[in-house]
Formats: sequence, structure tokens, C-alpha cells
Amino acid sequence: MPDGSQIDYDGLIPNNVGLNEDLRVRKALEVWHPGYIDWWKQMGPEGFQESLVYLRTAVGVGSEGWAKFDFVRMPEYRWGVLLAPQVEGRTIPFGAHKGEPAWQEVPGEYRAMLRRLLVIQGDTEPASVEQQRHLGATAPSLYDLRNLFQVNVEEGRHLWAMVYLLQKYFGRDGREEANDLLRRRSGDQDSPRMLGAFNERTPDWLSFFMFTFFTDRDGKMQLAALAQSGFDPLSRTCRFMLTEEAHHMFVGETGVQRVIQRTCEAMKAAGIDDPYDIERIRALGVIDLPTIQKKANLHFSLTLDLFGNEISTNAANAFNAGLKGRYREDRLTDDHQLLGAVYPVLRFNNGLIQSEDVPALSGLNMRLRDDYVVDTEAGIARWNRVFERTGVDFRITLPHVAFNRRIGEFSGCHADTDGTLLTADQWAKRSKEVLPSVEDNLFIASLMAPVREPGAYAGWIAPPRIGIDNMPGDFEYVRMEG
Ligand SMILES: [Fe+2]
Ligand SMILES: [Fe+2]
Repeated sequence: MPDGSQIDYDGLIPNNVGLNEDLRVRKALEVWHPGYIDWWKQMGPEGFQESLVYLRTAVGVGSEGWAKFDFVRMPEYRWGVLLAPQVEGRTIPFGAHKGEPAWQEVPGEYRAMLRRLLVIQGDTEPASVEQQRHLGATAPSLYDLRNLFQVNVEEGRHLWAMVYLLQKYFGRDGREEANDLLRRRSGDQDSPRMLGAFNERTPDWLSFFMFTFFTDRDGKMQLAALAQSGFDPLSRTCRFMLTEEAHHMFVGETGVQRVIQRTCEAMKAAGIDDPYDIERIRALGVIDLPTIQKKANLHFSLTLDLFGNEISTNAANAFNAGLKGRYREDRLTDDHQLLGAVYPVLRFNNGLIQSEDVPALSGLNMRLRDDYVVDTEAGIARWNRVFERTGVDFRITLPHVAFNRRIGEFSGCHADTDGTLLTADQWAKRSKEVLPSVEDNLFIASLMAPVREPGAYAGWIAPPRIGIDNMPGDFEYVRMEG
């Protein structure tokens, strides 16, 4: 039984799961591989399949030195199956089976539930690659272009991670699910991706940075909850994915931060103090701060929908079964079974938004969403330091959780960014002021022109403080070829 410390980097599929000795699964993955490459070439980054990209590839699973950087053509990227090392004597950390040895095989009674969790997680990974496939054409620098591609290849690897679990533990059903993961397409009329936010467009780079900040962070929360799983292979898989996910958060957070910084600097240089002097600010070729706030409103509200219904039997069942825990379950100090416990859930009842205590098991989606909001707020606070540093009188804030929702308690009402309830007519008018308008999007689109010279940056975004892998400022992160 491979314990995860040995990495085989020689075969077609780099792995630390002993694929060489596991002929059945190796064969299944090798059969799936050509379809994956076809998918990547069709739906992956458009126009850069021949380019040499300075990418990191996972070559280990320890906390140090797990990645190496080198120039790679993306279709030749070494997508591997890597699990965090097995923890000796690990037990199921929560739910009805708490304290029993962690499962190394799928528990029969939970097979369907587990498969569903893997497929939903797996479906998001290729979806984001599809959503971002046109962005290469308008990258604001080679540095940003490379970061986009890094995120893309790692989302591809996350798909591999889920497909491995499906192929290894679910036989024929798993094979069919693995094929369906390559068949669905983001935004497709007939066979869309499974979750709403993954069918939206990512038309420009501000959208990309917002997506990686807000929506990849949902991914981080879901992976963190699955990393607690009593099904040990899933736990180990997700623990390793989280090391990669940290970079996606970084790309989003610093991306928006650099946009804000550039705008503030341009305003200062032009002697503009009023952030709402939009025409003059836009004339400087930078994105005005109120538009950045509107984009944040949109991406935050779309992402909240990914947490599902606030009160959910599925979430309770997955927890009871020991399959999906809470965020940082291992650091919580209650009974890890939530017997008799309650959790306050924000509900929409009788025309009012009110907190109500519900059984904690039923409120687990709400709890994960609350943890997400806290994590998001910390990132927003770091954005806001730019205003303090540059002396611009503005703050980015998160809208109320009831704002612009399509799923859950607040899908049946209209709420302003501060949570004030609005009539349909009031909402129709107000939503134009707090969500990006057609005009806002056209303005952002007008700034999206590619910058390909090493070390140069588009005028609407500040350069990063340090290069990737400590490379110098004029490093050529992507070499166009072909
Ligand atoms: Fe991912
Ligand atoms: Fe991600």
C-alpha cells in the first residue's frame, strides 16, 4: 500500500498512489487521457497551446519544495495524481462514525452520496478553464498571462484528482462520470456545468481576478470541508489540492489590489480627490473605484449561491455520514456530532430577514458560508489598505448576504447592498446602480488590450511587487511560438 511518500514521475501519469502496480486504474486513466487532451486543446487557453510557459509542476507532496518551475507547452504539462501523505492511525473525525478508523474503501451505504460529492467538486474544475479560455488574448502582461495559465493547468490537475477517485473507487459508474466531466461545457444550453457561477462568462481580466478572489475561495472552503472527510483518499486528495488553491487566492487578491493601486495612483497624479468623478477618472485609462465595487458585489453574490440552501438535509446527511466536515473541523472543540446543537441561520420569513436558531446539522451550509464571509473579509481588508496607503477616500465593502441571490432563503426577495428589502420596481432601478451596467462592462472591455513586452504592464494595473519564483521584473514568463 503506497503511503504517499514515493512519487513516480517516469510514467505517463506522475503519481504517488502506486499506479504502476494498479493496472486496472492505470488502464482506465490511460483510456481517459486522450479525451482529456482533446478537451484541453478544444476548451483550454485559446491561442497559446504552442507557447512555452514558465509553470510550476507538482513534483512532491511535502510542505517544502513540492513544485518545480520550468518552461512547458501546456498540452505537455505533467498532470498527475498526488495525494497528501497518509496519516498513520487516522480516525473519522466527525459524524455518526466518529472515532472509527478512517475508510480506505468506499463505505457501501454512502456510495451514492460520495459519488455525488466528487462529481460536483470535479465539475467546477474544468468549468473555470472553459470560462477563462479567451483571456490570454488580452492579458495585461506576460506575468499575468503566466498566472492565468498556472491556475488553468492546476484546475486541470484538480479534475484529474477527482477523476482518479472516481476511476479507482467507483468502477463503471466512475468511468461514466469521468467521461461526463469532459462532456459538459460551461454556459452550454444543452449540457451546462452543474453550478450556476460556473456557467457565467469571464469576459475580462477584472472579472478573472474577481472570480479567483471570490469563487476560487468557495473552492477552498469546499476542499477544506472535504479534506476532513472520513473517506481517507478524499481527505488526502483535498489536502494536497489546497496547497495549489492558495496560489489561486493570491492571483485574485493581488490582481484586484494592483488594479485598485493603479487607479489610486492615477487619481492622485491627476489631482482628483472625488472617487465618483467617474468620467475624468476613466479618461485616465484606469478603472474607477465604484465600478470595482460593483464587480465585487456581483461576484460575491454569485459565489454565495454556490453554498446552496441555508437549511439542507443533504449537508446534514453528508456530515452525519462522516463524508464532509466543517471548515477546520479538526480545530473545533465541540462533540463533532452536533447532537442537540443549534446554529443561527439568517432566514427570510413573513417579509423579514431574521436570524433563527435551527438544528446545527441542518445549518451546515450556512455555517460554511459564514466561514467563507469571514475569510473573504480578511482579503477585502487587505485591499482597503491601499486606500490608506495612497490617501484616497474610499472603501470596498461586501454587500449583505441577501443581495442579488438566486438560491436559498433570499432568492424570493430583493435586497439592497445593506440588506434593506426592496420592491421589484425599486430593485429594477437600484440594481443598475449597484451591479455592473452594460456601459461599465463596455468601458472595462475597452481597456483590455494585450501587453506582450517582458516587464511591461497595461495602464490600468500596477506591476506586482515581486516576480514569480523570484524572477526579475523583465523576465519573459511566456514565449510565444507556433
Ligand atoms: Fe480547483
Ligand atoms: Fe482554484
